[in-house]
Amino acid sequence: MLVAGNWKSNKSFNEAKEFANAIAAMPQAPAGVEVMIAPPAPYLAAMGDAQPPFRLGSQNVSATGSGAHTGEFTAEMLAGCGVQDVIVGHSERRDGYGDDDKVVAEKVSRVLDAGLRVIFCCGESLQDRQSDVHFDKVLRQMESAVLHLPAEVMDRVVVAYEPIWAIGTGLTATEEQAQEMHAAIRGWLREAFDDATAKSIPLLYGGSCKPANADALFACEDVDGGLIGGAALDPDSFRALVEAAGRVSALRMQAGAEAS
Ligand code: PGA
Repeated sequence: MLVAGNWKSNKSFNEAKEFANAIAAMPQAPAGVEVMIAPPAPYLAAMGDAQPPFRLGSQNVSATGSGAHTGEFTAEMLAGCGVQDVIVGHSERRDGYGDDDKVVAEKVSRVLDAGLRVIFCCGESLQDRQSDVHFDKVLRQMESAVLHLPAEVMDRVVVAYEPIWAIGTGLTATEEQAQEMHAAIRGWLREAFDDATAKSIPLLYGGSCKPANADALFACEDVDGGLIGGAALDPDSFRALVEAAGRVSALRMQAGAEAS
């Protein structure tokens, strides 16, 4: 299970340091649970230097290499600051900052080339869902950014399904809606790669995931954690999400032990 916090453009630098200290003071993440936090980019180097007890994520990366690209930062620069995971393809970047499918595919490749792990986001709009094209939409996004990747990098790919209508709206996909889309993504990965790859790729749900609904969402068979915005900003609510993942992880480990 992976619990990934996306702070977006929130928190002052001091608040970020306080949060990191609060997390450091908490008990270790439960067995089988990874924790990732993606603060605003200007804080990454300092947070990386402090060697936090969680994976450090970036919310963005440049689609270009080093050179005359004012304001951009490369995947290699992120790696040098201690970043391990990079979120690519978030709908807020697709809709507001020109990250179209081509740019997203380029960013995914650059993250992987730099040896980092990518958290690739996909998801449909409300209109897509109402027109019943949500599966097509999401699987086309997968195709354009993931299909061309060599099999050997797939252990550094995480997919986050984030229905746009659920992001920051308080509306959450039902467990059925989340599970059926995650199963479709898993099935697509099986076809595009193989069964072992499909099973091993963590599939996160994102979109108004919070302590009140995390147990139910995380318990879905093909949901392996969450990409969390609003509910990741407060240490107590973030810890509650990590604990929810811990409960599901314990059940899965128990089921795995009984099956073997
Ligand atoms: P939210 O954001 O949890 O605030 O809905 C999720 C995301 O955008 O990753």
